[in-house]
Amino acid sequence: MKDNQQEIFPVVDEEGMVVGKATRGECHSGSRLLHPVVHLHVFNAQGDVYLQKRPEWKDIQPGKWDTAVGGHLDYGETPEEALRREVREELGITDFEPQFIGKYVFESQRERELVYVHRTTYNGEIKPSQDELDGGRFWTMQEISETMGKHSLTPNFEHEFQRFFLSKIKKYRILTKQIHALIEGETDYIALMANVCAAIHEAMGFFWTGFYRVIDGELLLGPFQGPVACMHIQFGRGVCGTAWEQRQTIVVPDVELFPGHIACSSLSRSEIVVPVMTKDGKVVAVLDIDSKELGTFDDIDRQYLEEICKLLASV
Ligand code: SME
Repeated sequence: MKDNQQEIFPVVDEEGMVVGKATRGECHSGSRLLHPVVHLHVFNAQGDVYLQKRPEWKDIQPGKWDTAVGGHLDYGETPEEALRREVREELGITDFEPQFIGKYVFESQRERELVYVHRTTYNGEIKPSQDELDGGRFWTMQEISETMGKHSLTPNFEHEFQRFFLSKIKKYRILTKQIHALIEGETDYIALMANVCAAIHEAMGFFWTGFYRVIDGELLLGPFQGPVACMHIQFGRGVCGTAWEQRQTIVVPDVELFPGHIACSSLSRSEIVVPVMTKDGKVVAVLDIDSKELGTFDDIDRQYLEEICKLLASV
């Protein structure tokens, strides 16, 4: 096996607009022609991460462990189309929901890529391509952290994973410790909610972070950080009322696609709502967080924010 050096790639600007085309050979020969690629990080329900092993015949980083799926856009293809094609070809997965989490420029001596980063949670069967890969398996976060810098993982994966996932986990770990300390010995819910939302907001840099409390059969605005917000939300309405009704966390990658979303600010693009539940399962409040970016929240946010709400409810 060998990569076809004559394959045609689009050449793009940093926004992803196509400005020309070039062969794989030209793009990978130190020409610095910016060309787009798609990446998908595959997590399972336990939060482990699937990595693929690059075969020895690859022209770049042979034999190293890499992001579950990565591939170039063909000329004329959109990032979404390329992602679906690559995920099908490399892992045999067709039934997944990708979440776009950002794009950035990756540079090495050989090439310059515009990387479209996605994540998904997938619990089905994974069949790594026998032609294109040397297999793959799930790694725990701990295992990945310990393997960083030891030349088994591609530098591109290390850099990207650190930037999009590990740095977030690190921040949440520090935040959770801080919240433990804040809660210690305090019993007033409003004072606690005020400090908890301030701590989250400061540590994570979100656009809006706050609580709605269940008062007289509706959600009433509680302590928050960020712009002025709606004061009353009915049971089952909006993301908050739905999280209350379903008694579970709701992650909304794009608020425009959530039927009935209540827009307190037109700047909010994605959202997570976590119910605060007492031990007997009664919802007493919801924690609502908004972001100005699409697809900000994932299972890592869900896991840590649920832990924080549990801490609060245990007071
Ligand atoms: N978007 C929420 C309303 C609250 S604001 O985001 C602060 C909702 O749909 O429930």
